[in-house]
Parts: sequence; structure tokens; C-alpha cells
Amino acid sequence: MKLQSKVAIVTGAASGMGKAIAEGYAAEGAKVVVSDLNLEGAQAVADGIIATGGEAFAIQTNVAKDEDLTTLFDETVSKYGKLDILVNNAGIMDGMEPVNEITDDRWDLVFAVNTTSVMKSMRLATNLFLEQGNGIIINNISVGGLNGGRSGAAYAASKHAVVGLTKNTAFMFSQKGIRCNGIAPGAVATNIGQSMTNISQFGMGQQQKGSALIPRVGEPQEIAKLAIFLASDDSSFINGQIIAADGGWTAY
Ligand SMILES: NC(=O)c1ccc[n+]([C@@H]2O[C@H](COP(=O)([O-])OP(=O)(O)OC[C@H]3O[C@@H](n4cnc5c(N)ncnc54)[C@H](O)[C@@H]3O)[C@@H](O)[C@H]2O)c1
Repeated sequence: MKLQSKVAIVTGAASGMGKAIAEGYAAEGAKVVVSDLNLEGAQAVADGIIATGGEAFAIQTNVAKDEDLTTLFDETVSKYGKLDILVNNAGIMDGMEPVNEITDDRWDLVFAVNTTSVMKSMRLATNLFLEQGNGIIINNISVGGLNGGRSGAAYAASKHAVVGLTKNTAFMFSQKGIRCNGIAPGAVATNIGQSMTNISQFGMGQQQKGSALIPRVGEPQEIAKLAIFLASDDSSFINGQIIAADGGWTAY
């Protein structure tokens, strides 16, 4: 058991990679806070963890709402007494638009969910971690945070920003017992396509030139294995890194 007695929050844990990370952490002995906008889905994941002998509870969180984030952290500490691991995983796609086609509404929503919420939950977590003297942050970013052509402009910018936030936080607290790393998945079989609306034909066409080089689509569990490694002492000397898990897509 690599995460025995650790307490972990996973956002966006009702589906896809967040679900796999929540289940993987519970299987390694962690108590998992299964947080998602979709409460029914989060409850199903928590129920599944409990049914297999793990510890978890579900909570409805819209990461773009300050009061929901505060409740998430308060409930975690009130139920489990501490927080050891924060996984910022909740995220949405854009519509593959190039910059000239972005509406203000799309930009604001993508940044609220993919970027600003990550800063806000890291702010809450680091204040707890500094008091405790230890803590782990893992941000599920994307190869879209490393390369320019994996998405539309809003998603690319929102994820590039989290790369900076991750590296800055790792450096700032590198002598305070806090580690902060990012995962950059390539194409993974999840439900994220459902968050894509009003798709730009031009943008999609451009994006598909890069998609043609995808070696294969990964499974959420393949990302969960990396998230377990980054949360455990096996990665004790790894801090401020954005690790691609993409089957070799970014190697092209
Ligand atoms: N699937 C991919 O190919 C891929 C590739 C690279 C990065 N990512 C990133 O991985 C992360 C997880 O995505 P996934 O592919 O597992 O998608 P998914 O759609 O299967 O799961 C995302 C979850 O986030 C939740 N969510 C959406 N908006 C939310 C909000 N405002 N507050 C709380 N929860 C919210 C959804 O309800 C859903 O359960 C995202 O940050 C995404 O950008 C995905």
C-alpha cells in the first residue's frame, strides 16, 4: 500500500481520469474525497470504493465557485482531520477555436474551470500544508499545456498557465515539505468530448493535423498509475515536473 492513511481530494472524480485516480488511490490505502460537479456520478464512485473495502465520501463541488471550494476543504478536514494530497483534475475542453473565434464567455468559462480554480484550490491546500509541514499537489494538465496545436487557443492557454503555476509552487515551497507536479496526458479515453460545443471547423481541421500522429489512445488507469507514483514517496525527489503520459505523442 503506497498511500496508507493518506487523505486525498480528487476533483472531477466522477468520470474518466479523476475516477481512475480516486479508485487507484483508495486501492493504495488512501481515504478519498470524491469531488465533482456531478454528485450522482461522484456518489457512484465513492460507493464503488466503499464496496471494495476502501474509504471515501462524495461531495458536490463546482470548482469554479469559491464557496464550493471552501466547503470541499472544510468537509475534508472535518471528516478526515487533515489533507495530504490534492489532485486538481476537473477540466473542460474548448471548441478548438483559434484566437479570432474565441467568445468572451468561452474564454471565461475555460479559464474559470481549468486555471483559476486550480490556483484557488492550491491556495487553500498550501495553507494547510504549510501548517502541517508536508503535502502533495498534482495538477492534471495536458499535452495541450506543452504544445500549441493539441486544442483550441483557450484550452491551450488555460493549461499552459497551470504549467507555470505548478513550477512556481514547486519552487516556492521546495524547502517546506510540499511537492507539486503536473501530468500531461495525451489522448485518453474519457467523457471529455461531451464538454466540447460549437466546434470551430477551421480550428478542428488544424488540430487534426497533430492528432494524426497520436500513437494510441490511453486508458484512464494508465494516468492513475502516474498519479499514484507522484503522490507516493517513490517520487520523493521529483518536484516541479510536468510529466507527459501520451504514448510518445509529444516525442514527434
Ligand atoms: N481525455 C483526454 O484526452 C485528456 C487529455 C489531456 C488532459 N485531459 C485533462 O484531464 C482532466 C480530466 O478529464 P477527463 O478526460 O477525465 O474528462 P471527463 O469529462 O471524463 O471527466 C472530467 C470530470 O470533471 C467534471 N467537471 C467538469 N467541470 C467541472 C466543474 N466546474 N467543477 C467540478 N467538476 C467538473 C466533470 O463532471 C467530469 O466528471 C481534465 O483536466 C482534462 O483537461 C484530458
